[in-house]
Amino acid sequence: MPRIAYVNGRYVAHAQAGVHIEDRGYQFADGVYEVCEVARGYIMDMTRHLDRLDRSLRELSIAWPLHRSALQVVMREVIRRNGVRNGLVYMQVTRGVAPRDHFFPAPDTPRTLVVTARKTSPAASAKKAEQGIRVITVPENRWERVDIKTVGLLPNAMARQKARDAGAQEAWFVDPDGTVKEGASTNVWIVAGDGTLLTRPAASGILRGVTRATVMDVAARLGLRVEERAFTVDEAKAAREAFITAATTVVMPVVEIDGTPVANGHPGSVAVSLRAAFFDIAEKTQA
Ligand code: PDD
Repeated sequence: MPRIAYVNGRYVAHAQAGVHIEDRGYQFADGVYEVCEVARGYIMDMTRHLDRLDRSLRELSIAWPLHRSALQVVMREVIRRNGVRNGLVYMQVTRGVAPRDHFFPAPDTPRTLVVTARKTSPAASAKKAEQGIRVITVPENRWERVDIKTVGLLPNAMARQKARDAGAQEAWFVDPDGTVKEGASTNVWIVAGDGTLLTRPAASGILRGVTRATVMDVAARLGLRVEERAFTVDEAKAAREAFITAATTVVMPVVEIDGTPVANGHPGSVAVSLRAAFFDIAEKTQA
């Protein structure tokens, strides 16, 4: 099945899909994006993802490119045309195409909207979760508006590449005070000695992850205590468990931090239970 992308009102062959060279996303990273998981034919947590897209757009004074309900139609259509039952749907909105100039173009400049979808392998991610992943830590070097989900991801890409070069799968940004911010494309959690789940408050320099919010719902349902507070790399290394969350990974156990095993170096039971219960408790919209 050939891949199909949606670009500004048209469904086009993925291989030929493109936007103009003076798109502000290309020239200034002047755009925002969302990634939703598609699981067993459902779009997961669509309401929270579209609410966050709305917030990101408002923070950058970019108007919606089309009505929210029309975007949902496009998402479903791209998922259908690509035959995705398990995978990801990606959407990106930029301020549009205009002669290169730092000033914003006229407000009626059409925004650029791209929607793509691709399949992922549930078996491969289950296998990864059984093994757990290794992470490295890197100094925080991003701007302070990481609460906006912009396409300006160069520090994130550099951090993840550094992780790969070190034989790890994710990099955690760390503040000068030693506290963990978040992963390059994930939120970070640990399980403290008393069983409390700790995750950094969303107001303090991280992206408010949708999966993070839903994992809080799952934890509540499982009777687990969650505390939103900053923790250090040393606390994480000494924790009972560590894990990351994102639409792309759901709940993924972390078994090693900068070469130090977390607990016995195997995925912990809390992460495994949260992962197992996630699908049932998250919002599901028929794709
Ligand atoms: N990344 N923090 C950062 C910096 C992220 O880029 C992401 C998501 C998250 C987790 O958010 P959510 O649970 O809403 O997916 C946290 C997406 C998946 C990406 O860039 O591919």
